Amino acid sequence: MTTKKIFIFGMIVFSHLLSFSQQKDPTEKKIDELLSKMTLDEKIGQMNQLTGLGLSDDMVSSIRGGKVGSILNEIDAKTVNKLQRIAVEETRLGIPLVFARDVIHGFKTIFPIPLGQAASWNPQVAENGARVAAIEASAAGIRWTFAPMIDVSRDPRWGRIAESCGEDPYLTSVIGAAMIKGFQGNDLSSQTSMAACAKHFAAYGASESGKDYNTTWIPELQLREVYFPPFEAAIKANAATFMCSFNDINGVPSSGSKFLNYDVLRKEWKYDGVLVSDWESIGQMIPHGFSADLKDAALIAANAYVDMDMMSFAYINYLKDLVNSGNVSEAIVDDAVRNILRLKFRLGLFDNPYTPEYDELPFYTDDALQKAKHAAIESAVLLKNDKNVLPLNGVKTVAVVGPLLDSQADQLGTWCFDGEPAHSVTPLTAIKKEYGKKYNIVAEKGLTYSRDKSAEGIKKAVEAAQKADVVVAFVGEESVLSGEARSRADISLPGAQGELISALKATGKPVVMVVMAGRPLTIGNEVSTADAVLFSFHGGIMAGPALADLIFGEAVPSGKLPVTIPRMVGQIPVYYAHKNTGRPANNIDLIDDIPVGALQTSIGFTSYHLDAGDKPLFPFGFGLSYATFDYSDVRLSKNTISGNETLTVECDVTNSGKIDAQEVVQLYIRDKVGSLVRPVRELKDFQKITLKSGETKTVKFELTNEQLAFWNADKVKRAEAGEFQVWVSTDSQSGTPVSFWYK
Ligand code: NOJ
Repeated sequence: MTTKKIFIFGMIVFSHLLSFSQQKDPTEKKIDELLSKMTLDEKIGQMNQLTGLGLSDDMVSSIRGGKVGSILNEIDAKTVNKLQRIAVEETRLGIPLVFARDVIHGFKTIFPIPLGQAASWNPQVAENGARVAAIEASAAGIRWTFAPMIDVSRDPRWGRIAESCGEDPYLTSVIGAAMIKGFQGNDLSSQTSMAACAKHFAAYGASESGKDYNTTWIPELQLREVYFPPFEAAIKANAATFMCSFNDINGVPSSGSKFLNYDVLRKEWKYDGVLVSDWESIGQMIPHGFSADLKDAALIAANAYVDMDMMSFAYINYLKDLVNSGNVSEAIVDDAVRNILRLKFRLGLFDNPYTPEYDELPFYTDDALQKAKHAAIESAVLLKNDKNVLPLNGVKTVAVVGPLLDSQADQLGTWCFDGEPAHSVTPLTAIKKEYGKKYNIVAEKGLTYSRDKSAEGIKKAVEAAQKADVVVAFVGEESVLSGEARSRADISLPGAQGELISALKATGKPVVMVVMAGRPLTIGNEVSTADAVLFSFHGGIMAGPALADLIFGEAVPSGKLPVTIPRMVGQIPVYYAHKNTGRPANNIDLIDDIPVGALQTSIGFTSYHLDAGDKPLFPFGFGLSYATFDYSDVRLSKNTISGNETLTVECDVTNSGKIDAQEVVQLYIRDKVGSLVRPVRELKDFQKITLKSGETKTVKFELTNEQLAFWNADKVKRAEAGEFQVWVSTDSQSGTPVSFWYK
């Protein structure tokens, strides 16, 4: 055969295969058939998402008129079914609605906030939480949740860090993917599955100064290296939908970014799910100064391939004109509608549009409560434990104090619209119930809420402490101080809680501080004062029983920080995977060490803060246990690898403590010299293992060139030849590196 004949033959085979594969996908065929019957108005109606107004006349007529494709915030199965019946039975094409809601860390059975779930470093914990949420929320008719939030978050001032999986792209990818798996289940069309939504695309976590909705300026390579990987992982995990972010990146609001939403999401990543705007984010391009008016905003968003308009009313009012005038092509509208119909087919809504109306809703089952408790146990991070104060032991009377001791609402944390505080079991209730027989419990909140500054309250707490052998103080933030639009410039303990800890310590009794918060807090003074510190991000409905078991030794802490805790706000941004300067910190002279009248040249010239030094209060990955772990030297299968060879990295980890416990073994690398400077360490893998007292396990990791690769100076993702260091360690700061070469 001549080359030409081979080419023609090849083309024929290829086109047969192509048409065969197209024919093979029955859903795509159904979508095309349906789309071909739709008028422009009907298409635009599908692209409109409205908030629930019950069975109001407005809503009923919008649905009947084909002006809405999705409704958010309707949470009663009966109402959902009535609205759905109108869409299915009273519109020309009977296209079902999809009902959505922010079910972020639980619907009724509230799990720890996502940052807490990430602190478990246990994907199963995150998957369980999402599965329970899906079972409960889908029973109310909700088949689409706006979670997980996988914005890499390196700024604890930002209130939404609570909703994130922390500062690291890899940990966020793993925990985010686990949540997607839990929400969507094994089969998205099952009536107990919810479509997940990877949000916010992109870089919302980088909002300047941690102020919500704020601007960002991020080079493309940094977007690709830090902010995009969790979204790529979400696509691999089959996330059914994405959401735009509120912020602008380099001057372009995400809802108007063709680069993000088309070039990257559709062309490069081949994503075929729905991209929904954030709430009014299309309209908000007007105050951003990117759109002149709502029609202009609709034009920009549609041409930036945003499929669905959440609550801006931009598409429903202007898209038809824009298409008719040729400013937006109908092909773009068709693509958006295809994505939306695909979601509805994948959810099985055409076959089963109605929600089963249960007599007894599957809320708060024993299984769900146990999983929530387990999640809260695994999420707590032990930061300090002088003289092994914890678990409590050899004491008779325990004073339990502090504003978070008995606050059913606050322990739920942010973003739980449907959680019912009355179902929360607080630390006080759990301690009295589970340990009240064995120990004498003296309870006195002292401060009644986290911002309370009452001196009288502190006095009462001190009186309680004086009657006890040990004091456990539950401090932190009320839930309303973190979450959306809850940024803080001062992230210390609010109110007089710092004074409370000092006053308790002054009694001479050992003080255990339990922090329940929505973000890392600058608690350096309190950490120095307290004898033990257990940091629990808002732990959800079962936070009380979980913390009680940890305090009294029925459970062992195994959480690790998913985010750095700064000493001072002025250190922010502070994260472990930073780049080195040309003058890394050494010879640190702190401000009070400098002699009066010292000369300009007498100190330093390295990179640190005079008042904070060079280190955070606690690094990423840090967390103690009631056991201790010894790490052996790291062993490598080879000194040099090339191409796509795999390097095996092994390390023996021994539980040298007296108690069985879990440890998160972390694998970090450093690329010593790059065409662009590389972070001082990057997390590449981890394993959470259980070790009996005295037991040793060999932990084995495989490193591939994929994991060594980065977006380099040529704007390609590739592993560069040269020396790498690898650590297997208990956190991001410890361990001894071993070198290997890639060529
Ligand atoms: C605004 C938030 O940014 C987003 O995360 C949420 O899903 C929507 N509102 C809908 O409530």
